[in-house]
Amino acid sequence: MALLPIIIAPDPALKKVCKAVETMDAEVRRLMDDMLETMYAAPGVGLAAPQVGVLKRLIVVDAAREDEPPAPFGMANPELIWVSDHDNSHEEGCLSLPDYFGDVVRPAEIRVRYLDRENEIRELEADGLLATCIQHEMDHLDGLLFVDHMSALKRNMILRKLLKAKKSDKSLARYATA
Ligand code: NI
Repeated sequence: MALLPIIIAPDPALKKVCKAVETMDAEVRRLMDDMLETMYAAPGVGLAAPQVGVLKRLIVVDAAREDEPPAPFGMANPELIWVSDHDNSHEEGCLSLPDYFGDVVRPAEIRVRYLDRENEIRELEADGLLATCIQHEMDHLDGLLFVDHMSALKRNMILRKLLKAKKSDKSLARYATA
């Protein structure tokens, strides 16, 4: 397994619509394992393939609390097949927007269909942090960041600050190549 560099916004790779995973082969499984390792090391509760520069519909999440055993999910081609009428507001952050947080309103409960690492189609019902996390990561697959759910004013302020930080930090600028 390997740690992958995480792309920091603003970056064109984070604005792309990703392509479906055709089959869960050894290469995709390895990417999934590397993404999980990268997510845990960050640390984060979710990561999407475009955040490591791979424009595939692949996400990993683990919304277990610190006092719970790890509960990792790797999902290819996730799609929401049901969402609840009632919403939840959660404060979200993103490994591609380090140090920025904001409240985002999303459906409180979801049912998601996805391809698992054994190449089986599965369905999962989720609520709470797990539901938020899955929806946040799924947004990445369509080029959306959590700040895209905020006002343009707030979004642009955050992205401008990140761009400025990036320009003054060569170690981050190195990843801004997509
Ligand atoms: Ni994110």
